Amino acid sequence: MPSGRGVPPDPKDARAADAAGKGVTPARPVLPPPLPLAHGELTPADALELRALKEQIRTASGLFCEGYKEKCLRRRLAVRMRARGVHRYADYAALLDADPAEYARLIDTVTINVSKFYRNPEVWDAVRDLVLPDLLSKTHRLHAWSAGTATGEEPYTLAMLLREAFERAGRTDVDKAVAIEGTDIDAQALARARIAVYPALALVETPDAARARWFEPGGPPFRVVPEIRSMVRFTQGDLIQEPARADLDLIFCRNLFIYFEPDLQETIMSRFAEALRPGGWLVLGKVETLLGGVTSQLEAVCPRERIYRKR
Ligand SMILES: C[S@@+](CC[C@H](N)C(=O)[O-])C[C@H]1O[C@@H](n2cnc3c(N)ncnc32)[C@H](O)[C@@H]1O
Repeated sequence: MPSGRGVPPDPKDARAADAAGKGVTPARPVLPPPLPLAHGELTPADALELRALKEQIRTASGLFCEGYKEKCLRRRLAVRMRARGVHRYADYAALLDADPAEYARLIDTVTINVSKFYRNPEVWDAVRDLVLPDLLSKTHRLHAWSAGTATGEEPYTLAMLLREAFERAGRTDVDKAVAIEGTDIDAQALARARIAVYPALALVETPDAARARWFEPGGPPFRVVPEIRSMVRFTQGDLIQEPARADLDLIFCRNLFIYFEPDLQETIMSRFAEALRPGGWLVLGKVETLLGGVTSQLEAVCPRERIYRKR
């Protein structure tokens, strides 16, 4: 996000600016962002160049730019263009052609990986008190999916709560019964998720008991213990383009839809509804709302926490 306009700085922008200093163009001075392209109305020529650039990015890297809110996308493109010292979309397109490694940096900048363990603790309280007891009472095995999982804090938090829930239920088969998958478009974020080592900031919302039990002694940084790590499998996938899933008991998709255009949000939400088994649960982020026809398939059991159950 651009700083200096009353908007808080985004760590991703800082990383991109940092990459400008350390990466391919170390000697280049940091230029101001090409603000007209990042913010204002585009001229017809710029709009054409942007359309061609999006198509090129989609063909070459698979990133479906049309699905992202245009304002967001333009700000992120501006970050990379500034880092590489180009001021026109056509020049950035040529640069991507000449240096395909730039696609990975662009994807890393377009996607935003901020996450935390026990993020929005009241949501996790509801998952612990309402969702998990319901699932444990009805299903023997439990398949969960954290879509847009970033660096893994969300599926690991779920794994921690599931171990505790199985213990409370007197069940010892958690390792056999539970499968959690975390997916994200960003390979670098997933690599960090697999390593499972986190700075103190990622744990600020973590209850003391969970911190003591589910992280290795020492730190910061803090490493998740092996019995939690082994419960989560991470796979790279683009939520916009990946094939339909089925037979899921629980889906988390938090703090991702905000970057998507409403039509795309609606399409993905109805895919989620299809992927859930009857009685399965969907947990959205606090900033997201259920859209479109899918409201008839999903009952808002805990509307404040954006928790829904398939009818
Ligand atoms: C802000 S993080 C949310 C992390 C976690 N769900 C949470 O709420 O703490 C959003 C994640 O969505 C991922 N993302 C963005 N576009 C995506 C796409 N098309 N397919 C899959 N993941 C995507 C980003 O890479 C980023 O890691």
